[in-house]
Amino acid sequence: MRILGIETSCDETAVAVVEDGRLLGERLATQVDTHALFGGVVPEIASREHLRVLPRLYRRLMAETGLDAGDLDGVAVARGPGLLGSLLVGVSFAKGLSLASGADLIGVNHLWAHLLAPGLEGELRFPALGLLVSGGHTHIYRISSPTEFELLGRTLDDAAGEAFDKTAKMLNFPYPGGRFIDQLAQEAEPDTDLFPRPYIDNPTLDFSFSGLKTAVANYVADHPELVFGTMADPQAVADLPGERRAALARVCASFNWAVADTLRIKVERALKREGRMESLIVAGGVAANTGVRRAMGVVAEAFGIGLTLPGLSLCTDNGAMVAYAGWQLARAGYRHGLDLEAIPRGRI
Ligand code: KG4
Ligand code: ZN
Repeated sequence: MRILGIETSCDETAVAVVEDGRLLGERLATQVDTHALFGGVVPEIASREHLRVLPRLYRRLMAETGLDAGDLDGVAVARGPGLLGSLLVGVSFAKGLSLASGADLIGVNHLWAHLLAPGLEGELRFPALGLLVSGGHTHIYRISSPTEFELLGRTLDDAAGEAFDKTAKMLNFPYPGGRFIDQLAQEAEPDTDLFPRPYIDNPTLDFSFSGLKTAVANYVADHPELVFGTMADPQAVADLPGERRAALARVCASFNWAVADTLRIKVERALKREGRMESLIVAGGVAANTGVRRAMGVVAEAFGIGLTLPGLSLCTDNGAMVAYAGWQLARAGYRHGLDLEAIPRGRI
């Protein structure tokens, strides 16, 4: 079965084809440099860019794989969550293609697609505990099969990636700054007393990262010498001079530790509560983070279960994950009608 995947939920436009669980080809265009000029994603610009770029990416992918629309069994599209205008571009394109080619239309939950993505690299084992940590979401799921997800916990305010990006902004790093915090965090030991691990003294599996953000804001206000000048491009971060670099690295390492250890505590709690799991799957942009990957390795080892982490290019938004999730849904017999809606937020 051959499935095209379309991803336009935020600021990457991406397409890919998966055949029987294997990736045949993919194309991706990121808008990150455009939005970086504004310090965050501008929804209207994102939609217009998807509209401009998506047909070209599709045409190139088809040329590269030697396929045409008639060779597709299904057209899978991320239907949400995400920015409404952006989602509508992908969903409308998918509907048009399905209508013209006769391929099935398959709406995919973007978050499930993130968690299933590592299935492209190796076998997924179920039941699995899934931790989805991205720019917009922090969710813990029980995953019984590729099509059965039960939400166990979620963030009550900021997502983990948002906490990274907002902290990075306060430290003057370019947007999105999560990876710069990760990079500098490697150069120092964390001070575990510097920032609180937020919302851990409660029995829930939910998260709240806004308190941590406030703690960083207070720290930065007390240490204005940390954030003078601007760092508009990644080279400025690479060229940071010694003393200031060391001070920033300590802040980054301490912040990164607070996030990673908070995730560790809640994932451990979930694993204790949910009974025997075959694996722990960690996905989404923040799954690229060195500290998070390390902390999850510790948890998986302690519980004697497999750890499934996607390779770095599968962590951030991409078309392959949508095509793969679409393939899983299609082979389980799911498809949508042309009344498929984009669902920007909430449960889908
Ligand atoms: O999953 P994703 O590509 O997009 C959403 O669906 O949100 O995640 C993007 C998020 C951003 O907040 C970005 O800063 C963060 O993932 N991110 C990282 C790292 N790489 C990407 N955060 C921390 N450390 C990283 N290495
Ligand atoms: Zn995503």
